[in-house]
Parts: sequence; structure tokens; C-alpha cells
Amino acid sequence: MTEWWGDAVVYQVYPRSFADTNNDGIGDLAGITAHLDHLAWLGVDGLWISPVHPSPNADWGYDVADYFGVHPDLGTLDDFDALIEEADRLGLRVLLDLVPNHSSVQHPWFLDARRGRDAAHRDWYVWADPSPDGGPPNNWVSSFFGPAWSLDERTGQYFLHSFLVDQADFNWWNDDVRDEFDRILAFWFDRGVAGFRIDVCHMIIKDRLLRDNPPATTADHFMDQLRGQRPEYNSCRPEVHDVLRRWRALGARYDPPRVLLGETYVFDLDQLASFYGHDDELQLALNFPFLLGDFNADALRDVVERTEVTLPGEATPVWTMGNHDVSRFPTRWCGDDPRRARAALVMLLGLRGTTVLYYGDELATPDTNVPVDRLVDPVSVRYHPVANRDAARTPMRWNADRGAGFTADSVDPWLPFGDAAAGSVADQRDNPDSALHLTRDLIALRRELPALRAGRYETWPAPAGVWAWRRGDSALVAVNFAETSTALNGVDGTVRVSTDRARDGEPVGGRLVLGPLEAVIVALT
Ligand code: GLC
Ligand code: CA
Repeated sequence: MTEWWGDAVVYQVYPRSFADTNNDGIGDLAGITAHLDHLAWLGVDGLWISPVHPSPNADWGYDVADYFGVHPDLGTLDDFDALIEEADRLGLRVLLDLVPNHSSVQHPWFLDARRGRDAAHRDWYVWADPSPDGGPPNNWVSSFFGPAWSLDERTGQYFLHSFLVDQADFNWWNDDVRDEFDRILAFWFDRGVAGFRIDVCHMIIKDRLLRDNPPATTADHFMDQLRGQRPEYNSCRPEVHDVLRRWRALGARYDPPRVLLGETYVFDLDQLASFYGHDDELQLALNFPFLLGDFNADALRDVVERTEVTLPGEATPVWTMGNHDVSRFPTRWCGDDPRRARAALVMLLGLRGTTVLYYGDELATPDTNVPVDRLVDPVSVRYHPVANRDAARTPMRWNADRGAGFTADSVDPWLPFGDAAAGSVADQRDNPDSALHLTRDLIALRRELPALRAGRYETWPAPAGVWAWRRGDSALVAVNFAETSTALNGVDGTVRVSTDRARDGEPVGGRLVLGPLEAVIVALT
């Protein structure tokens, strides 16, 4: 298996926060283009850009109002073409974000659908009559909590919104919706997009009979228990696989074949495995049990071992420590302890499969403490401090200037900058001991050692608090989650990268000593 994405490192860009070239405080496509050299220097294979389309920004781009355009805040289609051209020149692939579960309620299709029960686009969305008592048609709740249905007074029916009331769910039983999305995929594939990250991939198709979800039990995931129901009829429906097969076949008509990376937000690994199909659905499915797991040796080893045995033989696992919806890993997992954050980077880049880094992960950027009056994400506004997505969406720090190299010094960006002490690209590039250099060296090592690229995963016996694994026959990764030193036996080779950079190149003869919170990759002999 030698497809580019099979052992890749993909870098997620949150476009509003990457780099602002026209000094309006908002990152833009030209800013991404201008900084692609950073990604090339880092050594990643490609980038995934969160939505760039016109949008009223009720959910910051995840409420699309035109699937064929570029949001004026971010630039134009010409800017997009220029981005692709520069990415090609640098050998970087570009993935866009596809949002097929819902559109903005401001999308012309939904505006039309609302006009009347016989409107041309009525059936493009999920409508249902009130229940006999006048309430919602069934008991489904929004992923963001609260009812998933709102009454459209004018036409007397409810419409479904699995997220915000500003995001109306498409009716994927309708063939015109399927055809239109084929056109959307082809439009961007033809423009040179290497693939899509597919938003809410598991939920797009709903039970045709709109049956009530059963109550959650203690066996269900914590979030389902909080919502009070198991998403039996509005998530992971068998028919979602037809849609994924259709998209995979569409992507296969291109050279190179286009890639589908799913936001498969499921906690059951058999369900996760199902999204790969028989190598005819997603090539890549994001692993949320890992991302949202606890940061300790037992918990993460368990997820990885179970994933390795559960995914179909040819499937590529996908590991990530962050995205625009969760607290950044140095804060959420590592308690802002830089030693832990460095160990986490070694762990992530030592796993088999494809890795997705979130912008700033390479700097070990922690969460930003965004003041309540600066919150802009509706989920953060509603649920902070329990949930705060804005904390992970603040502007990238490129240098130590007032504007952080993100924007002009005089400009107040759309979200505030994080703490300067967390460091910038420029500072960290000057410091060979930085998280940035560690990340770059780990990516380079993945390219250099075939075992780190493709070698199978095999757990290596290790004392409590340590997670170690072999990759193929010739690489060993060991992560000490404990504050005390320890050792592994039977290791012969050379330390290639350690979180303690002074050890790089050190020979190991039988006994591999690990310092507190140290992580190493050893080339075995
Ligand atoms: C996905 C996105 C998230 C968005 C939601 C609704 O989970 O990652 O940011 O709010 O879908 O589109
Ligand atoms: Ca801008």
C-alpha cells in the first residue's frame, strides 16, 4: 500500500486563524498560501482546510450557504486556485472540508424549501408533521443538546437540525441531493483538491420512518447518556455506506484517486471499522476514542490495540490529538506541562497509519484563555467553561510582533491571541530543542525509517506507566507517562529521537532507560 495518504501527516488549517494578508483581523486563503512554506519545511504531506465557503458563520463556516464559492472574508476562487498551484509546487496535497449533513438555513435551497410544501427544494431537507400533541415529530435531540426539530410556522411542519437551528439537515433519501453533491465533489476535485474531510460523516442519512431513539442506558457512551438517548435512528444508519461508496467511486475516477477522510464521531470500534467498507468507502476514518481518551499508558494502549485488531486488514488508522472542536492537547492531556506535550508528539508520530496535526500542535500551543465577552462560537457561548471551542481556534503565532505575524500590529484579530510565552514559529525555529524541531525531526524520521512508515504495530512489554510498541522489526517507540525513571529490557539499537534531545544518537545495549515523562524512538538492530 503506497498511496500518499496511507502513512501521511496531514495538517489541519483553521483558515480564519492561520494568517491574515489584508489586515482585517481574519485569516484568509492568501495567508495560507503565503505560509505553505512552513508546512513544506515541517515535512507534512498535505493540509486539510476547514470550510472556506460563503456562510453566515452561525457555526463558523460549518453552515454553508454556497458550496461552489469562497467566503469573501477568506478571498476568492482565484485565491483558491493560487493556493492549489503553490501547494502543487511544494508537493503538498490539499483537502477541503465537505459539509453534507446540513446547509445554512440561509442557503438558497433552504430559503426555497421554506416557501411552501410544494417548493422545488422542499424535499431536499428533512420535514415532518407535528406529533399529535403539536410537538416535534420525534424525540431526537441536537448534537449540541436541545430539540433537533424546529417548527416552520408558515408551512406548519418541523424541519430537522442535528446541530444548530441555523443548520438544516439535508434529506439524503432524495436523489437530487445525491446528484448535487456529486457535482460539488467533482467541482473541487476538478480544481485540484486531493480529497475531503467529511463533516459529521456518520450522521448524514436518517431513519426513513423517523423512529424515536431508545433511552440511553449506562452501557451507552457518556455523551449519549447526557443527551438521554442512544442515537440509533439518526446516526450510523446502514444506508450511509451507499453514499460513501458512491463518493469513493467518484474519487476513483481521478488520477491520483481522491481521498475521503471522515469525521467518524463514534466510540464503538466496530462501527468505526464499518466506514472503511471493503476498501470501497472512506480511506481514512478519524479515531475519536483515541482523541478523547485519557492520557495514560493503559487507556491509549488499549484504544490503539483494539483499533489495530478491529480495522480491516488493509485499512489505515487515523490518529489525531486535536481539532477545532476540542481543547488543545497540551492543555487537555498534558496539564500545560511541556514534557508531557513533547512525549505526546513522539507517541502520535510513532503510531502506524495517518496522523492529523492541528495547526499549532507543532508548537505545542496550549489553549487560549478567551475572555467570555470575546467568545464567538455558539457552543462556547452556551456551554463555557464546560465546552470552549474558541480556546483552540485563536490566531497562529508566527513571530513575537504585536500582531504575531498573523496580522498588522495595530489590528485586533477576530479572536484574541494566546499567551506570547507559549512561543511562536520564529522563536521555536531558532531553538533546536523546541517542540517545533521535535515535530519536524519526527516527521523526517517517519520518512527515513520504512518501519515507521509501514511496519505493523506490536505492543512491547513494559512496566506500569509505560506504553511501548514495536513497528515492524526495526523500530521501537516507548513513552513513559510516569514522573519517575524506568527501563525496558531487550532493546538493542540506537536512540533516533528522544524528547531529551541530548540522547539522540545514543546507543542502546539491552536496557533502555527512560527518564520521567520521556519518550523515545529507537532504531533496532
Ligand atoms: C462537526 C464540526 C463542528 C461543527 C459540526 C456541525 O462536528 O467539526 O465544528 O460544529 O460538525 O457542522
Ligand atoms: Ca484577512
